[in-house]
This record gives sequence, structure tokens and C-alpha cells, in this order.
Amino acid sequence: MTRFFLLVPLLCMLSLSLQARELIKPEDAVEYRQAAFQVIRFQFGAMAQMIRGEREFTNEEFLQRSQALYTLIPLAHEGFIETTRNESGSRAADRLWDERERFDQIMARFESDTAELVEVAADGSQRQVRNQFRQAMRHCKACHDQYRMD
Ligand code: HEC
Repeated sequence: MTRFFLLVPLLCMLSLSLQARELIKPEDAVEYRQAAFQVIRFQFGAMAQMIRGEREFTNEEFLQRSQALYTLIPLAHEGFIETTRNESGSRAADRLWDERERFDQIMARFESDTAELVEVAADGSQRQVRNQFRQAMRHCKACHDQYRMD
């Protein structure tokens, strides 16, 4: 009996969140993920300048930017809903939807490598930071080459 009472609200919550998902308009989801990638690019650019020595490197700023990047990745990921498959403004390649699991895996690796970047930025050497930055950021090109149209 207790279990039943726990199950009912749980199922209600689940169906609410599914409904909310279906209500998202495809064009909004595309705009949302592209906007998230724009913010990602800004953070990435600022960090790359610090790594290349074109801008002063401070641990505090680098840490803040890598934390921001870490927060943004699941947001960009969230915008990839199936209903956007044929959306006109999207540059997501068709094979993204056919190879959905692989795409999600790259995104997950990008996220975990960025989590490590946050850790290294908090208490690692500059050399470790540089190496981990390269490690995490190679996923940008790897994914674009396969899943983003020119
Ligand atoms: C797992 C795959 C994946 C990873 C990792 C990834 N991207 Fe992307 N990115 C995409 C896809 C797919 C699109 C096309 C989205 C669309 O047009 O709907 C895109 C679009 C973009 C855009 C264009 C946004 C716009 O306004 O149209 C920028 C900028 C961008 N990515 C930057 C980056 C940067 C910088 C990184 C790494 C720090 C990165 N991306 C990592 C898949 C990825």
C-alpha cells in the first residue's frame, strides 16, 4: 500500500516532465542549443587565449571559466531533441540522429574531461591545466567533423 502511494505521485511527475518536453517547439530547441554553443565558444576562446599566452593567465579566472563551461555542456546537449531533425535553421547532420548513442557518448566524454579540467584548474600546475584543456577541447572538432554540417 505504501508503495502504491509513493508510485502515484512519481508517475504523475514523470508524465508532467514528458509533457513539458513535448511542448518544446523544435525551432526553440535549435535556437537554444545554438545560443548555448555561442556562450561555450566565448568561454573557450577566452581560455584558449590564456593558454596561448595572449592574455594574462590567472588561476582564479581560468577556474571560473572552466566551471562555466562545465555548466553549459549539459544545456547545449539538452537542446538536441529528436523533433529538431528536419528543422531548417539547424546544422546538425542527419547522421547525428542515426548515431544518437555515439553523439551522446562524445558529449559525455566532453563533459567528464571538462570536469577534470575544473579539478586541475583548482589545484593543478599550469602544465597540467594546459594538457587537460587540450584533452577536453579536442572533442569540439571531433564532434563537429562528424555531426555538424558546414
Ligand atoms: C558532441 C558534439 C559536439 C561537441 C563536443 C561540441 N559541439 Fe559545437 N556543435 C555541435 C553541433 C551538432 C552543432 C550544430 C547545432 C545546430 O546548428 O543546431 C554545433 C554548433 C556549434 C556552434 C555554432 C552555434 C550557432 O550559433 O549556430 C559553435 C560556435 C560551437 N558549436 C562551438 C563549440 C565549441 C567551442 C566546442 C568545444 C569547446 C563545441 N562546440 C563542442 C556539436 C558539438
